[in-house]
Amino acid sequence: MSGKFYVTTPIYYVNDIPHIGHAYTTLAADILARYNRLRGREVFFLTGTDEHGQKVEKAAQEKGRTPKEHADLMVINFKNLWAKLNIKNDAFIRTTDEEHIKTVQSLLQRLYEKGEIEKRLYAGWYCTPDERFWTEKEVVDGNCPECKRPVEYISEENYFFLMSNYQERLIKYIEGNPHYILPETRKNEVLGFLKNHALGDLCISRPKERLPWGITLPFDENFVTYVWFDALLNYYSATKYLAPPLSNLKSEDWWPPDHHLIGKDILTTHAIYWSTMLMALEMPLPRNIFAHGWWTVEGKKMSKSLGNVVDPNEIVNRYGTDALRYFLFREVPFGADGDFSEQGIIKRINTDLANDLGNLLSRTLAMIEKYFEGKIPQPPPYDIGGQIDVVREIQLKSLVENIRADLDVLMEKLSFGHALDKIWFVIKDSNKLIEDEAPWNLWKTNQIDKLSGVLYALAEVLGIIAIYLFPFMPSAAEEMWKQLNIEGKLGEVNLDIGGKWGMLKPGREIKKGKALFPRIETGKKS
Ligand code: MSP
Repeated sequence: MSGKFYVTTPIYYVNDIPHIGHAYTTLAADILARYNRLRGREVFFLTGTDEHGQKVEKAAQEKGRTPKEHADLMVINFKNLWAKLNIKNDAFIRTTDEEHIKTVQSLLQRLYEKGEIEKRLYAGWYCTPDERFWTEKEVVDGNCPECKRPVEYISEENYFFLMSNYQERLIKYIEGNPHYILPETRKNEVLGFLKNHALGDLCISRPKERLPWGITLPFDENFVTYVWFDALLNYYSATKYLAPPLSNLKSEDWWPPDHHLIGKDILTTHAIYWSTMLMALEMPLPRNIFAHGWWTVEGKKMSKSLGNVVDPNEIVNRYGTDALRYFLFREVPFGADGDFSEQGIIKRINTDLANDLGNLLSRTLAMIEKYFEGKIPQPPPYDIGGQIDVVREIQLKSLVENIRADLDVLMEKLSFGHALDKIWFVIKDSNKLIEDEAPWNLWKTNQIDKLSGVLYALAEVLGIIAIYLFPFMPSAAEEMWKQLNIEGKLGEVNLDIGGKWGMLKPGREIKKGKALFPRIETGKKS
């Protein structure tokens, strides 16, 4: 297993402000990045913005700005939101960065010299909002088959990437690498498409007279680069000027990425355009492209015209970052579509977060305060057999110790929901231990050894669980760590070395604080 981990999100168009769909992918990447940092890997987590092309040019025009002025302003919304969501990306790429532009031009030149790009007269139906051509057969009643808006007939010279040459190779690659495109259903869609359609060549230029806002082709200054061709190359160009230095792996390069996280709507551009571009460039393909599902809002497609676009800023102001992060990844398996509702978030807060997790922490710490003057109790030896009954504590200990192996596998598969299920199993079992052992009765009957053992075990479990929760809910996990008053910084734990049973020092004072997740009263609307 490699010691480096490189994860990307799509780069977002700066024509509009970010919504819950953008936040979803970026949060998923943050969770993976944080988990892999805990595993001691060197991590490069890249996100950014897609700033060329017609969409951005049009949005800028409407506001009376130049495209660059518009992009400079809009980028702030993304950066601020990522900070508010506690997202710790290592870099932020903008396709208007000088270094990115140079890389795109040099790779285009390389492809041109290799004979992978050709100039042709092209006539076809063009959809301006989607920035793509359709064939006569594909057009439906004069409208774009995808966005349903009218198309116009255009005839012009353009440059084409000879994508069709790679059809067979791509089929073989996908078949030979079953984890290349995930989830499996998405892989099958791509394969189905590739096997049943002749792959065309890809028009990768736009004449400047029609669309000036883009990267000039290095071999013909009358044209700019098609925005998708420019955008996809961000994943590579960033490794050349934005990636942190690889300290322990001098001979290695950040390329190729471990995961490209994307939404299902942009699977074709990644699975087909990007894969064949890389083949033509003779560069290794990413290890995995993962297409997640889409969020609807209370059963409806999110859209400006319906006025139901969810602004993550508002959700965070109402319920907090951690609750949003938790909801998005517990509610729906990553890969499936999901439905977003505030009722859904409130339910998760009140049950899983306040009842299960919050209560476990506050009850445990309250009992340590009450019975042991707020100091971590000295546990009795767990192996003296016969004298005291420690079976349940030992069971809990092995449960929490075994969780690491399961989580490694689940996080490799991006099964965030299942990973949280595993963590919650431990939380629920800990709450059950409290019910079963009833520490208040142990106190009354003066069974102090047993009481110490139970409370020590609960505190240890909470400390270890905080580490595993950190990728998902960084602030809550840090608060747990603080209240347990564990030495060292949570974000610096290396799971291969630390974070194990025995972290707590008996006699050390705890610092019980505020409730992790106060319940939300559902009767009145806040
Ligand atoms: N700029 C391109 C990506 C280029 S990557 C080389 C782009 N940008 S976008 O801003 O329109 O969309 C970015 C992402 O948001 C896509 O992955 C898309 O799937 C995601 N989502 C948009 N609406 C969404 C939902 N309603 N739900 C979940 N994700 C959604 O495409």
